[in-house]
Amino acid sequence: MARKDQMKLGFVLHGVGTNWSDWRHPARPTDASTDFAFYKYQAQLAEQGKFDFLFVSDSLSISDKSSPHDLNRFEPITIMSALAAVTSHVGLVGTLSVSYFEPFNVARQFASLDHISGGRAAWNVVTSWLDATAANFSDAPHPAHDVRYKIAAEFLDVVQGLWDSWEGDAILGDKANGRFIDPERLHTLNHHGEFFNVKGPLNIKRTPQDQPVIFQAGASEDGKNFAAARADAIFCNPDRLETAAEYYADVKTRAVGFGRRAEDVKIIPATRPFVGRTDEEAEAKYQELCELVSIDNALQLLGRPFNDHDFSVYDLDAPFPAEAAAAAGLGSNQSVSMRILKFAKDDNLTLRQTALRFATPRGHFVGGPEKVADAMQAWFEAHGADGFMIFETMPGQLELFVELVVPVLQARGLFRRDYAASTLRGLLEVPGVENRYTAARNKARLAEQG
Ligand SMILES: Cc1cc2nc3c(=O)[nH]c(=O)nc-3n(C[C@H](O)[C@H](O)[C@H](O)COP(=O)(O)O)c2cc1C
Repeated sequence: MARKDQMKLGFVLHGVGTNWSDWRHPARPTDASTDFAFYKYQAQLAEQGKFDFLFVSDSLSISDKSSPHDLNRFEPITIMSALAAVTSHVGLVGTLSVSYFEPFNVARQFASLDHISGGRAAWNVVTSWLDATAANFSDAPHPAHDVRYKIAAEFLDVVQGLWDSWEGDAILGDKANGRFIDPERLHTLNHHGEFFNVKGPLNIKRTPQDQPVIFQAGASEDGKNFAAARADAIFCNPDRLETAAEYYADVKTRAVGFGRRAEDVKIIPATRPFVGRTDEEAEAKYQELCELVSIDNALQLLGRPFNDHDFSVYDLDAPFPAEAAAAAGLGSNQSVSMRILKFAKDDNLTLRQTALRFATPRGHFVGGPEKVADAMQAWFEAHGADGFMIFETMPGQLELFVELVVPVLQARGLFRRDYAASTLRGLLEVPGVENRYTAARNKARLAEQG
């Protein structure tokens, strides 16, 4: 059934490459992840393509086995503040971890970004899945999976509470009477919880979006509940339309169960297209990527969602070591690790086959512009996605996507021809947030009146 809304598009700024292999392509600059000119070029190109948002991922621990982009990259708020100054419409989604930051800092950073960008900031709330992260933060124990989500819920309560410190009209700027603010409109949070004690108020006024947008990507039970209850937009990683549609229906149902409208939560799968001018050209690009993958790199990539498990100790041509992998994956990145375990079991794969399949995801978006647009339309119309987050699989893919695929989507009425809103909330069509104190006062006034 045709949908009345239009799809949302995000682009992942991933510098030198999205995995352990594509960085080796001769056309990819080795220093792309720390080259501002490279980020600026991609950000402006995505904006030319009318994308809704740019996405900056993050993690907080590396080793010599980490992927090239993870090894050496910009801190998210810093790069997004710089990009805010060289773009004007596209949203800026940055990742910060609730396990290793303080809510006051995060509230202040995203509020600042929302002001600097004129209402385009979003926070991707992550919990950090690698135990090794703790060693960079004074060795406080890495919280267990379920505890991480409890921390996340309270952390977000505090951040959103701090964002409400200032009512919209708190700054008077009344020079004649010397009143800079109205103290009645500035509020102290006084939060005392299981994990955080935060007094407030926040030291920056209410932001252009009222509150920055919240992104999340949980896929475990705890993760899906957290996302459905709290996020405006949710990333996921489905491998085919059926699993995408299942996740979509599941999370939307949960959101409704939490008293929200299904359309107020946008589901945005990660997508790795290979676009060519023809289907054959796209297929050749996919094969080109496969040729860059070494088995050593594929094993490193495979280890990541399993808490950086070392798969090099097993026989490559024996069955996938499911038992050890399950133990390592459960407390780490559950969604990805369990998906790998499932396909290895279903298809009876060896370790080598599993690693190579994970390292060279072909997906359903390989082809000329019509074919890629057809697949996106099918996912969108079958309620597998409200939009797509585009990873650049090979150098030059963003250019091809903007030049070839975006016009097809626009011609079909599936994607905007121009920006019609100035904030990210407006672009994503997610609801605004009324200040809790203003709302309470308005409610009390109405009750008095009537
Ligand atoms: C598209 C996408 C992007 C993500 N980006 C990050 C990231 O930048 N940093 C991070 O620590 N986790 C990131 N994650 C992981 C999620 O935050 C979450 O840990 C993961 O989906 C596992 O959730 P679960 O433990 O509830 O299964 C991302 C997930 C997806 C699907």
